[in-house]
Amino acid sequence: MTLRSVIEGTGSALPRRRVDNAELATMVDTSDEWIVERTGIRTRYIAGEGETTASLAVEAARNALDAAGVAPAEVDLIILATATPDQTFPASATIVQAALGINDCVAFDVAAVCSGFLYALTVADNMLRGGGAKTALVIGAETMSRILDWEDRTTCVLFGDGAGAVVLRAQETDDHDGRGILASKLHADGRHNGLLNVDGGPSTTGTVGKVRMKGQDVFRHAVVNLAQVMREVLELASIDAADVNWVVPHQANARILDATARKLGLDPARVVVTVDRHANTSAASVPLALDTAVRDGRIEQGDLVVLEAMGGGFTWGASVLRF
Ligand code: COA
Repeated sequence: MTLRSVIEGTGSALPRRRVDNAELATMVDTSDEWIVERTGIRTRYIAGEGETTASLAVEAARNALDAAGVAPAEVDLIILATATPDQTFPASATIVQAALGINDCVAFDVAAVCSGFLYALTVADNMLRGGGAKTALVIGAETMSRILDWEDRTTCVLFGDGAGAVVLRAQETDDHDGRGILASKLHADGRHNGLLNVDGGPSTTGTVGKVRMKGQDVFRHAVVNLAQVMREVLELASIDAADVNWVVPHQANARILDATARKLGLDPARVVVTVDRHANTSAASVPLALDTAVRDGRIEQGDLVVLEAMGGGFTWGASVLRF
């Protein structure tokens, strides 16, 4: 038997307001045709009054706890991945903790932008297997709309808001076909800050800043890095790409998803795609897509699932797990 971190439940949350491409075309010089052709995005959800990163995270966490049949009091670790916290400090994870009525546990945020959920999941997995915790809530939540430049058509059409969460539990599982996270691999290369960043911060401008991106450069790096890290993680777990049941990628652009799947020789029908409905929700995108495919019955217990993401930094990573 091997001690592994098993996903016991998933949950997600979206803001009330859905915005389609036609509505964006009334705000900036763009069109439904351009956005669909270049990105695959048709709609996104945008947070309104009273909806924040933490409030979306709480809703996603409650849904994941319900699905897992786990009471909040059993949670001893909360890791929240976000680039858009409610406050500069304290960590939004502590806002989630208080809202769930958990009086004492470890709670902190992870900042790795679009790879944030993979980073948070890997940290939680290491803490669970190391004995530092038994039951973790791992959440990705964002309100990217609040840091977009709504006059910049090259970025504002690409992002959306939302949250996704998983309940992760340390369990002794069968060495060969047991459930749980089998392998993870993370990377960062800080030389690429200038290709994707926010032009502000507490210690520099004293302002929150707006998202800036050189899209074509990011695209090129994304396809290469994601294919590489997926290969690495499959090799670490001694799994053949042909045996993977589902890939749940970061949802940035439908063309990146296609190109990455092709590079690995994966059947595109096995790639979970939600970018058309949710756009790029940064750290929320992988758990949001995972929850979507679990709830619509595609991902079933025992399936081999690969999660992957790449984001600002650059940071990138992948995990392979038996669901
Ligand atoms: N509507 C209409 N036209 C637009 C537009 C929009 N929303 N945004 C850009 N354009 C224009 C550009 O100004 C450019 O016009 P020009 O040729 O007159 O200069 C033209 O469309 C092509 O722009 P380009 O940047 O070459 O398009 P692209 O095919 O590379 O697509 C992205 C742009 C951003 C969709 C694409 O590069 C991408 O998805 N990159 C990766 C983004 C990503 O994954 N980011 C997150 C990582 S976590």
